[in-house]
Amino acid sequence: MTDHENPLFAAIYDPATALAEATVLAPHRRYLTNGLAGRVLDLGTGTGASFPFLVAARDDARRADDDLDAHLLDPDRHMLSRARRAARTHGLDATVVCGVAESLPYPDDSFDAVLSALVGCTVPDLDAALDEVGRVLRPGGQFRFFEHVAADGLQGRVQTAIDPAWTRLAAGCHLDRDLEAAYRAHPGLDVRTVERRDGVPPVSPLVRGVAVATE
Ligand SMILES: C[S@@+](CC[C@H](N)C(=O)[O-])C[C@H]1O[C@@H](n2cnc3c(N)ncnc32)[C@H](O)[C@@H]1O
Repeated sequence: MTDHENPLFAAIYDPATALAEATVLAPHRRYLTNGLAGRVLDLGTGTGASFPFLVAARDDARRADDDLDAHLLDPDRHMLSRARRAARTHGLDATVVCGVAESLPYPDDSFDAVLSALVGCTVPDLDAALDEVGRVLRPGGQFRFFEHVAADGLQGRVQTAIDPAWTRLAAGCHLDRDLEAAYRAHPGLDVRTVERRDGVPPVSPLVRGVAVATE
């Protein structure tokens, strides 16, 4: 088993997140995928929780005489087998690749949009991943994200205290990353919009937004 394989996390991910998906997360997935067209990469695609929303975006694109060419990447083959099944269930034709965000197996300027849904918390080398996002996006292409981030005050201190245990339980997920700051600081990305929303503590707050590839 490689460092990226976590069969137990993959098996419990859907049941553990079902309530949050139905209540808190669905609007953010809609935000992430709304109006997408062209070549789209879903980074850390997991079990495929965004697929119904990708299908809706693809259908909208087709109605507008366009299309959406979905590419799905994750390093965990247990996640990917669930993603393949979910893609079939939802009728999402997609290219599925096992790989890491820090070393994307795609040419420069090859995507119109890259999505990150709850992935920035887990990627071990965030700067390398953002370099790669900037590289594979065409100039002006969009990096769309919805992530959970570090809270302020007491909630933030609790996150920091429980982070070591949480990280072990949740397959490398960190509660205390300031992803908005990381995205804003990255030279290859120009953050255009960020909105902050409540999540489900300790996985709260959430940020969602859009950055544009600068070169
Ligand atoms: C919390 S899950 C989110 C899954 C999915 N995006 C969603 O919205 O439900 C985080 C995902 O990131 C993946 N991941 C972990 N390290 C990664 C890396 N270096 N590059 C890309 N994905 C990674 C995990 O395998 C897992 O599927």
